[in-house]
Amino acid sequence: MQLVSYTKRNSQKIMNGATPHIVQYQGSKRNLAPQILQYFPRKFARLIEPFAGMAAITIAVSKQRRAGHYHLNDLNEPLVNVLKESITNPQQLIEDYTRVWSEQLTYDYGSVEHFYKVRDDFNNGNKCAANMLYLLARCVKGSVRYSSSGIFNQSPDKRRMGTTPKNLAKNVYLISSLLKDKTDFTSVDYREVTKSAKCGDIVYMDPPYQGVCSSRDSRYYSGIDFNEFVECIEDLNRRGIDFIISYDGICGDKQYGNSLPTELGLKKVMLNAGLSSQSLFLGKKEITYEALYLSRNLCEVRTPIIQDQLLFAL
Ligand SMILES: C[S@@+](CC[C@H](N)C(=O)[O-])C[C@H]1O[C@@H](n2cnc3c(N)ncnc32)[C@H](O)[C@@H]1O
Repeated sequence: MQLVSYTKRNSQKIMNGATPHIVQYQGSKRNLAPQILQYFPRKFARLIEPFAGMAAITIAVSKQRRAGHYHLNDLNEPLVNVLKESITNPQQLIEDYTRVWSEQLTYDYGSVEHFYKVRDDFNNGNKCAANMLYLLARCVKGSVRYSSSGIFNQSPDKRRMGTTPKNLAKNVYLISSLLKDKTDFTSVDYREVTKSAKCGDIVYMDPPYQGVCSSRDSRYYSGIDFNEFVECIEDLNRRGIDFIISYDGICGDKQYGNSLPTELGLKKVMLNAGLSSQSLFLGKKEITYEALYLSRNLCEVRTPIIQDQLLFAL
């Protein structure tokens, strides 16, 4: 088995490239990060991400060294463990991932069968960060799916073998160098985390897509109650905490999800998320626009970092 050895110095070399990521993740804001970051203050005390996923915005903000501290939270505990291990213990995670990933090359029954073996291992209780990472790296569209009883049931992407340990190491060392000793990790409901926000913090919220699932079973990780979310925003408004929310969107004449109520007094801007692959598949060229909502104080602070994409305000 070959273990990859990347050092902090290697990671410095790629510091100026695109925002690094640990692994693909459905719903990641990595591509939209340059547009979203324009609406963050130039410097602030702490960034809180209650719906962290793979933490694209935290990583992008830390790459520009704009916050002193970070708080990453996601209800999906194994996912948070991937973030935590990547940031606090990258060498160990890379070694463990290399072992799991390399096993597929030697597996008698092929790499797809190996995915199922790791998935069974995970579902039987071995939810270590390396197993979660491998499942994410190899599953269809990087899309986490659990059954109502908490069984990870997503299928493997048969065309791919998953992020190589070498690529993983390159990105993980860089991300660790940006966030180590500055980041807190939790795995609780988003409302608990927003309660801990103080003035000077920025809360960035990217909840799961609306309407995907109405179940309140926390294991689905794919649907929050609209009214509870609005109450949470009202509470942040009342306490004078600044926040940015990714929420609904439009593509062609279709609206995805409800807009947030105008009574909340937020500014809504639409970000160009590029050509919709679903429309292209149907022979249409349509651009998807994703809504971003800004708390009252942030409406004025736009930082002109990148302005090469179509962007308009509603
Ligand atoms: C759209 S994804 C966030 C993607 C993230 N912005 C990124 O760039 O990777 C939404 C995340 O919310 C998490 N989630 C769902 N319900 C939650 C809840 N009640 N509290 C906290 N996190 C939750 C899901 O596990 C999922 O990772």
